[in-house]
Amino acid sequence: MAETEPWWQRGIVYQIFPLSFMDSNGDGIGDLPGIIARLGYVASLGVDAIWLSPIYPSPMADFGYDVADYTDVDPRFGSLDDFDRLVSEAHGRGLRVILDLVPNHTSDQHPWFIDSRSSRDASKRDWYIWRDPAPGGGPPNNWVSYFGSGWTLDPETGQYYFHQFRAEQPELNYANPAVLEAMLGVMRFWLDRGVDGFRVDVIALLAKDQRFLDEPPNPGYSPDQHAYYAVHHVYTENQPAVHDYIRAMRRVLDEYHERVMIGELDPFEGYLGYYGEDLDEVHLPFNFNLFFVPWQAEAVRRTADAYDAALPAGAWPNWVVGNHDRQRVGSRAGIGQARVVQMLLLTLRGTPFCYYGDEIGMADTPVPVDRLRDTVGYDPSQATRFSRDPQRTPMQWDATRPNAGFSSPEAEPWLPLAPDSGTVNVAVQEADERSVLALFRRLTALRAAEPALNGGDYRSHHAGDRNVFAYERSDGGTRVLVVLNFTAADKLVDLGAVASDGLVLLSTELDRTGREDCATLSLRPNEGVILRIG
Ligand code: GLC
Repeated sequence: MAETEPWWQRGIVYQIFPLSFMDSNGDGIGDLPGIIARLGYVASLGVDAIWLSPIYPSPMADFGYDVADYTDVDPRFGSLDDFDRLVSEAHGRGLRVILDLVPNHTSDQHPWFIDSRSSRDASKRDWYIWRDPAPGGGPPNNWVSYFGSGWTLDPETGQYYFHQFRAEQPELNYANPAVLEAMLGVMRFWLDRGVDGFRVDVIALLAKDQRFLDEPPNPGYSPDQHAYYAVHHVYTENQPAVHDYIRAMRRVLDEYHERVMIGELDPFEGYLGYYGEDLDEVHLPFNFNLFFVPWQAEAVRRTADAYDAALPAGAWPNWVVGNHDRQRVGSRAGIGQARVVQMLLLTLRGTPFCYYGDEIGMADTPVPVDRLRDTVGYDPSQATRFSRDPQRTPMQWDATRPNAGFSSPEAEPWLPLAPDSGTVNVAVQEADERSVLALFRRLTALRAAEPALNGGDYRSHHAGDRNVFAYERSDGGTRVLVVLNFTAADKLVDLGAVASDGLVLLSTELDRTGREDCATLSLRPNEGVILRIG
């Protein structure tokens, strides 16, 4: 891809969950100086940007996604000076910095909400969504949150406020134009500090239907699903006005040079519509499809084909295999597939998002019940219990140091270290030229060097075996073939119709070179290969 393309099309984004990356002051939680200290490592991965989950002052009811001040840094993480240093050191290493913008809701400790709930006449009353109780008493309608009723009564003022997450996360009222203006001001504050873009939290939820009607039941709902899905969110999700708000946000970004907006959206939220009819909304609506398909070659192939075919003209794709809300891909796909996962992520067409630790093959960490931190959805008696702690445990740096090098020896990390941190860690893998980490670096280097992988077209091929996913990336006359074995069995595949032979650019095992006959291509268990075929 030409250097003239914006960096976020050429680049790879690395997500850091600040609480868990690197603790510099021994309080058991990560911080900005810790991240700064590890920027050399991050740059060595060959990624192009870091996205930081929220760093703002927060009571941490939702681990930073409950913001009490949009224009400062939580003292647990450091200061604005630390942040400025982080941006300048990251930029000095060629790394962009993306912040998490959480515009849908604030913390109930945000001064805006404290004012809003203080009386019905408060100047910011209308900055949040307040409704009278239903005629017979009780919540105004049946709107729900991810964590139970969507309405919480404020006894002092006798009205309910709306929240689709925790009661500590009241939702802002974008029907009031002052709210949008304030949020655009927040964006400018950070853009002026040199931030390269935003990942925008739950972007499809910003607008609500102003009639406040009950949402219809979801007939397809089954009790093993999260209770949030018991109704169809026809009045709280994807409302037409949301696109106006997003276009206004985009206009702010466009006042600056090459800043990116990434939208958090699920595939069932009409995510492709969020590029905007004139590609004037989010640059990258997250593509979470791989969270929802079984880890099988045929299913992944169908997903990749469908996504590529459905993209609006001119829209740039992206791929995500892990984040702070989902089971780690090392657990979902099975740890044997850790290498195949990375080869897939880093060779598909579109900007890849890598979740910290996935590059060394971290898996979910079992967290004992008495150490769980994310417990709001955790009810051991319910089939729907969930906690996101297992995918948020501390980064595994170095087993020769206490706390795997995440925190000082005497500290107790906020979540336990994974039991495998003795073997799965950066130090061990840096010393092993065939480690998952070494593979990750080779993949990012190959992607950067190879226009076909970076910006070329995508086309899948039938490999004659449902457990093998094969696809071609091509740029002009340059053709690259990726062949991935999704199983722990040996495979012999016939891709003779695609090319007679190819030069091995990389194997997930990092031990294969030379030419291969494409009609009789053998793959070892859990092996993927990249071949140059033209
Ligand atoms: C997003 C975040 C998640 C958070 C929620 C509410 O889905 O990724 O962590 O709990 O929004 O802000």
